[in-house]
Amino acid sequence: MIAAIMQMHKLDIKKKLKGAYQGNNMMRKGDNTMKLNTSKVVVVGGSSGIGRGVATAVLERGASVVLVGRSRDKLNDTSKALAGPPRVKTIVADVTREEDVVRMFAEVGSFDHLVVTGGVATGASIGSMDLNAARALIENKLIAAIALAKHSLGKLRVGGSITFSSGISGDRPTPGGCLNAAAAASLGGLTRALAVELGPTRVNVVSPGWVDTPVWDTLAGEAKTGIWEQMARRLPVRRIGSAADVALAYVFLMESEFTTGTILHIDGGQALV
Ligand SMILES: NC(=O)c1ccc[n+]([C@@H]2O[C@H](COP(=O)([O-])OP(=O)(O)OC[C@H]3O[C@@H](n4cnc5c(N)ncnc54)[C@H](OP(=O)(O)O)[C@@H]3O)[C@@H](O)[C@H]2O)c1
Repeated sequence: MIAAIMQMHKLDIKKKLKGAYQGNNMMRKGDNTMKLNTSKVVVVGGSSGIGRGVATAVLERGASVVLVGRSRDKLNDTSKALAGPPRVKTIVADVTREEDVVRMFAEVGSFDHLVVTGGVATGASIGSMDLNAARALIENKLIAAIALAKHSLGKLRVGGSITFSSGISGDRPTPGGCLNAAAAASLGGLTRALAVELGPTRVNVVSPGWVDTPVWDTLAGEAKTGIWEQMARRLPVRRIGSAADVALAYVFLMESEFTTGTILHIDGGQALV
């Protein structure tokens, strides 16, 4: 008899606990049900390099993707090389221009994840700094990121994610690299502040080390291979990164519903050497 009463109490307590758990949003379990196969992902910079790697990775996981860049030709070539329409859409926009950003999100409609890999890098020592070039780089990296976050509101699913791209130069600057360092480091601050302001939407940043992308043709030209070989010898992983290596970090940040305000370093150990 006593055992039966105790059993009834146990069941009652279990029922109550279950009710409290379901009703309490603060204890909500992250079930990560919003996987990428049902997602629409916007990749600013998706026509080249790391952005193209991210587009490839999310398409492999069943998502649809919108590629954004300034060059119509580059967008067309990339779309053709990937799945093409309807799973790949392209929008020409210069995200340093606010009107382009507004138009771009109007064309995109509602979506789940924003990835920003657009951006340029430039070297200049402080004594010979062209301030107009400095302003252009900050526009391209920081102001564009702010404009994209601002105008994504209302279109980006609440609880979705924004992932920016910074770079190893923010932590390990080289002489002549102060602009890149300042821009990269500023994205960490922006990310942490937006994570607090936009929650439950998550905001993170990937900080890549050296990655084999077309940007190096501009940065180093014919010296590229030699510079890479030297760096590869120093790196613990003994090689330069690929766009596919880095793309995994963006996929993780889109899928991990308990990760926000994080700088994820994917650099083959470059920060250590
Ligand atoms: N590769 C590396 O070793 C490395 C290392 C550290 C950090 N990063 C950072 O990672 C990001 C991606 O680099 P990446 O190597 O993939 O460069 P990338 O191959 O040159 O690709 C850059 C992409 O951004 C687009 N883009 C640039 N400015 C834009 C703008 N104003 N509006 C719209 N799209 C724009 C480009 O297309 P259009 O030119 O057609 O606009 C292109 O699709 C950059 O922020 C870079 O600084 C790269």
